[in-house]
Amino acid sequence: MIVTPKVRGFICTTAHPAGCRENVKEQIDYVKGQPKTDGPKKVLVLGASTGYGLSSRIALAYSCGAATLGVLFEKPASGSRTATAGWYNTAAFEEFAHQDGLYAKSVNGDAFSAEIKRQVIDVIRQDLSQVDMVVYSLAAPRRTDRDGKLWSSVLKTTGDAYTNKTIDLKTRAISDVTIEPASEEEITATVKVMGGEDWKDWIATLKEADVLAPNAVTVAYSYIGPALTHPMYLDGSIGMAKRHLAKTAQEITQEFPGVTGYISVNKALVTQSSAAIPIVPLYISLLYKVMKEKGIHEGCIEQMTRLFHDKLCKASPELDGEGMLRLDDWEMRPDVQEEVSRLWESILTENVEQLADIDGYWEDFYRMFGFQVPGVDYDADVAVEVPIPSLA
Ligand code: NAI
Repeated sequence: MIVTPKVRGFICTTAHPAGCRENVKEQIDYVKGQPKTDGPKKVLVLGASTGYGLSSRIALAYSCGAATLGVLFEKPASGSRTATAGWYNTAAFEEFAHQDGLYAKSVNGDAFSAEIKRQVIDVIRQDLSQVDMVVYSLAAPRRTDRDGKLWSSVLKTTGDAYTNKTIDLKTRAISDVTIEPASEEEITATVKVMGGEDWKDWIATLKEADVLAPNAVTVAYSYIGPALTHPMYLDGSIGMAKRHLAKTAQEITQEFPGVTGYISVNKALVTQSSAAIPIVPLYISLLYKVMKEKGIHEGCIEQMTRLFHDKLCKASPELDGEGMLRLDDWEMRPDVQEEVSRLWESILTENVEQLADIDGYWEDFYRMFGFQVPGVDYDADVAVEVPIPSLA
C-alpha cells in the first residue's frame, strides 16, 4: 500500500510503518551515542508505545541494558487500515532490541483493567521473576475502573471561564478562545482517569504478586509549565489529576515498604496527548522557537535519556524542594520564559510565521505518525500488516 497522512483535527488516522520504524531507530541511535547509565535491569513500562513512554523504554533498554516489558493500547492493521503508530513503534522496537540481544516483550490491551494486570504478572513471573522499575506513562481519555464504571476526562479550566490566545494549526490563524470551567463531576472524572488511582493499583497488585524487586522504583510523568498555561494546565482539570498523581507518589513510598514513587516533571512536547489541549499548542510552538534558537531544544528521547542518566539512576536522585525530578529545568529557565511571554504578548496572525515555530510543530506532529521522516521513500509500496514479534 502507498500510505499517506489523513489528518482529522489533532489526530492522524493513518501511520506509516517504515517512518515509525525509522523514528524508533533514530531514538535508539541517539541513546547508543550517549554515556551508559548504571540503572535498572528489568523494567515494566506502562504506556510504552508513543511519546514519553516509548522514549523511556528506549532509554532504559539502550542506556541501562534493561529488559523491558511494555504495555500499550494499540490497533494492528486491518484490511486497508494501517495499524496505529504505537503498534508500528512497538514492532520496530522489539525487532531492534532482539537484534541487539535485549529482552523485549509487550502486552497490548487496557492497562486499567484487572485482566491486563494479570497478564503482565504472568509474563514477569515466567520471564523476569521481578522488575526493579515501573514507569507509569499512560495518557488516556477514559478509564473503566475496577468496579466497571466508565470515567471520561476533560481538558477544561477550573473556577471561572478563561479566555486567551490560541492557534488554529491548520490555518495558522491566531484568535481568542474561551475555555469553560469543568464541573465538579468532570474534575472528579479527570482525576479518576489521569490521577494516581490506577498507578497505585498497579503497584499494590504487583507487590501482592511479589513481582517487585526489593528497592523497586516507580516513576510517573507530570507537567507544571509557566503561569500563562496554568489556567489550562496546572489549574485546569488535568492539573487537578496531576496533583493527585503527585500525592500518590508520596503514598506509594509511604505505604509500600521497599518501593519509592517519583514524579518527573517533563517538558511540554508535541505528542498525541498534548496536541489535544487548548492553548498549549501555541505555547509549545513559541517554546520550540525560543529553545531551538538557544540550542537547548529537546525531544522525548533527549528528555528521557537525561532523566535516567542525570537525575534518577543515582545514589541520591536529583530532586527539587518538593521531592520531584525536574526535566523541565531548561524550559522553565527565566531567560526562556521571559522570551516566550514577550512573544506571546505580540503574536498575531500576521506575524505568526516569524514569532512561532509552527513548522516545527507540524514536523513533530507528522513524525509522530511516521510521516516526513528523512530517508523514507513515501512513494514506495509498504506492507501495512506488521507483527509485533512477542504478540505474533
Ligand atoms: P502519548 O499519548 O504519546 O502516550 C500515551 C501512551 O499510553 C501510549 O503508549 C498509549 O498506547 C498508552 N495508553 C493509553 N491508554 C491506554 C490504556 N488504556 N491501556 C494501556 N495503554 C494505554 O502521551 P505522552 O504525552 O507521552 O504522555 C505520557 C505521560 O507524560 C502523561 O502522564 C502526560 O501527562 C505526561 N506528560 C506529557 C507532556 C507532553 O507535553 N506531552 C509533558 C509532561 C508530562
